[in-house]
Amino acid sequence: MDKTIKYIREQTKLEPEIGIVLGSGLGDFADSIEDKIEIAYKDIPGFPVSTVKGHDGKLIFGKINSKNVCLMKGRIHFYEGYDMSDVIYPIRVLADLGVKTLILTNAAGGVNTDFNPADLMIITDHINLMGKNPLIGPNDEELGPRFPDMTDLYTPELVDLAENSAKKLGIGIRKGVYMYFTGPSYETAAEVRMARILGADAVGMSTVPEAIVARHRGLKILGISTITNMSTGILDTPLDHAEVVEVGNLVAGKFKELLNEIIEEI
Ligand code: HPA
Repeated sequence: MDKTIKYIREQTKLEPEIGIVLGSGLGDFADSIEDKIEIAYKDIPGFPVSTVKGHDGKLIFGKINSKNVCLMKGRIHFYEGYDMSDVIYPIRVLADLGVKTLILTNAAGGVNTDFNPADLMIITDHINLMGKNPLIGPNDEELGPRFPDMTDLYTPELVDLAENSAKKLGIGIRKGVYMYFTGPSYETAAEVRMARILGADAVGMSTVPEAIVARHRGLKILGISTITNMSTGILDTPLDHAEVVEVGNLVAGKFKELLNEIIEEI
């Protein structure tokens, strides 16, 4: 970790207060950033490299609405074959760089039948269905507690702030519980029914490990999902990654507008 931080510090002295993980479709959010400095994951010692198509791996430092930010363009998914320690490594880096607020964005399948593709959902809580926890292993008490509390994991003030920002912009917004499946296969129809019975509004393949680690480090967390599709079994059509990407891109405009407003208000 020391080598990672040292290398990043050599490239930029900017101290980010907000970290933003960009999910599918949001990659070009970085275009609006001022005083931009980009660092490719592959150049950062110790940093894992994302392999998913459309996830181009770099950290982007700069200013948005005069706030110092660090964007993660391209996240590391467990389903790519990485160890959990790699999946959460970038979040630990952001925390070490001084980030206080983490915004996690993702694409997710709608489980709540009131939802529609292209909806945005603020995550109010999550269900970790992977049966593993990213904090398994020795704990460094200096970084965070052995048994972190998960009350209000997604910071209620940020949920309210995001909801108010959406209202101000006239963007329809949902709130709900995100359930994490590791993927890469999409869920079965029976799993989606289970998810609904257990209280999930959306399902996805990211965000939860990152949120747990961010809480361990005491960060404030905001999570927002693009509902790119209805989950398996709800509609007659089979799921297709290309469609997920397409809807993600369609929604990107309003999502970026919302993110800008949120960053301004934080
Ligand atoms: N399931 C899991 N992850 C997803 C989905 C889905 O339906 N859509 C986008 N990411």
